[in-house]
Amino acid sequence: MNKAKRRAVIAGNWKMNKTRPEAKALIEEIIPLVKDADCGVVVCVPYTNLETALEAVKGTNIGVGAENCHWEKSGAFTAEISAGMLAEMGVEYVIIGHSERRQYFAESDVTVNRRVRAALDEGLKVILCVGETLEQREHGITERVCAIQTKAALEGVTAKELASIIIAYEPVWAIGTGKTATSEQANEVNHYIRTVIADLYGEEAAEGTTIQYGGSMNAKNAEELLDQVDVDGGLIGGASLKAPDFAAIVKAASRT
Ligand code: PGA
Repeated sequence: MNKAKRRAVIAGNWKMNKTRPEAKALIEEIIPLVKDADCGVVVCVPYTNLETALEAVKGTNIGVGAENCHWEKSGAFTAEISAGMLAEMGVEYVIIGHSERRQYFAESDVTVNRRVRAALDEGLKVILCVGETLEQREHGITERVCAIQTKAALEGVTAKELASIIIAYEPVWAIGTGKTATSEQANEVNHYIRTVIADLYGEEAAEGTTIQYGGSMNAKNAEELLDQVDVDGGLIGGASLKAPDFAAIVKAASRT
């Protein structure tokens, strides 16, 4: 495994947090702290904050992402936002398949795949989330679950398009719980997901794919997790809402 072949990306997932003035203030606090980052830095914010975020990051090394998108281009889908609407704004990234979407909003592998397709068609970069529940881990089917979710989401995605996909391995039991996967557990599953990518697209494509870890990554445990050979950055929830914590994680990713 050669980590040098891929770029680590630290992405904040703000979830349903921050008003527009709060978003502006947080991004302005983050900017000077991450300006020398040697990794990708992204903030994924609520739809209502996208314009504010895009304005605030102008001229900086920070990218902006949304937290989801719909698969249709337009139509009678009350409250939904299309990938094209995001792309037109200048949004660069979109999180798809987050476990909270799967769990609370009944998103399935099929709709995740459709959303991925729509995002790629609009030129967006996708942060695709996969991961097992505690019950699935206890039943020893972590790998099977991650393989199914990854393969289903990438159905119809070409090798060229894979370059626009970041995978985030997020064990559901570690999200927002303070229970982090150990660095070994994270590396093991990230490595396994890379073998799934290799099966689908070949060894070289797999070596070049950024695979993040997410789930209670914070300023304290980031260094150890990011040191792992198959962990190429992180998707950060809680800790991304505090500028010094988020910046510390970016710093840890920059040195590995
Ligand atoms: P957490 O969330 O860092 O708060 O556990 C991660 C995520 O849900 O992406």
